[in-house]
Amino acid sequence: MQIKNHLYAFRYHETESALCNLEAKYIFKNQDENKLLFSDRKIDPSNSAFIKNRLDIISSSTDYDQLIKDIKKKEIQYEGFKVEYIIFEGDKTRYADRLTKLKDIGYSIDGIPDYYTPTITYALCNYFGTWCFGILIKNNFDWLKHKKKPYSYSNSISIDIAKALVNIAAETNKEKTLLDACCGVGTIVLEACFAGYNIEGCEINWKVCNNAKKNIAHFNYKTKIEHCDIKEIRKWYDAAIIDLPYNLSSYASNLDIQHIVESTALITNRMVIVSISDISNLISRVGFKIVDHCTIRKKGKTAFARKIWVCQKSEI
Ligand SMILES: C[S@@+](CC[C@H](N)C(=O)[O-])C[C@H]1O[C@@H](n2cnc3c(N)ncnc32)[C@H](O)[C@@H]1O
Repeated sequence: MQIKNHLYAFRYHETESALCNLEAKYIFKNQDENKLLFSDRKIDPSNSAFIKNRLDIISSSTDYDQLIKDIKKKEIQYEGFKVEYIIFEGDKTRYADRLTKLKDIGYSIDGIPDYYTPTITYALCNYFGTWCFGILIKNNFDWLKHKKKPYSYSNSISIDIAKALVNIAAETNKEKTLLDACCGVGTIVLEACFAGYNIEGCEINWKVCNNAKKNIAHFNYKTKIEHCDIKEIRKWYDAAIIDLPYNLSSYASNLDIQHIVESTALITNRMVIVSISDISNLISRVGFKIVDHCTIRKKGKTAFARKIWVCQKSEI
């Protein structure tokens, strides 16, 4: 097995697996197996709702004694460190043995440990027979604060989906310019700002647009939200996200949907669209090809499902 620089652990509900796979494809160009993924790409776990943590590998070996020798050779010095054991599926190491191994590692690091307020967390795990030791970077779930945004909207998508849309649109490139073409109260814009992306928003409804601005200011993010019809936007963006209107509070006819997709297609080469109906014909009519798509069902028994379309301008 090829050990790479980082080992990612994922968490997601079965209804989210298609979205998580799609997100992983655009972040890592790969997808998880059993909710684990080795990659040389370094991603902040907090920028995805599905990445639980990242282990930055320092040493690995199929031979545990060799691993400990390697760690000692590195002469790691750190005050206030902590070591955790991460249990992966198939790891049969018993509790007492796990504790002994944590002590082995603790004695191989020079410094006084601090279990309650560590300055750094190291971790040990057994990945299908290979012992891996490294620095553990956890998802801080700080972004959950956005759940308490001052203004919400019955039409808003979940934060998990919003984060995935941003990652799919930006493909981890922080230089890209992004547009949320129908931004509502700014759920997607908030996640993009949190992750440090360059995003702007557009919203036709004055009140909703104002609420998006207030939500963004509430979390001290700075970006532009235009109050206008998307057809008035002339600026070019590297990618646009469109969470299409779909129900009574933001009612849209087929013509409205067509108008939004057509207008957005004029100002970008890449669109990530959320719809509740099949819009594949419309996407090709505006000169785009569908490079990926998936369906996300809501948890529980509801039949409600959203479709995500990743589209690229055809001549590119
Ligand atoms: C499904 S909602 C978006 C919700 C948003 N993602 C959120 O989480 O708050 C669709 C939004 O598109 C807006 N909209 C409809 N037609 C539009 C147009 N032509 N230009 C810009 N925004 C439009 C609606 O006012 C509505 O707020």
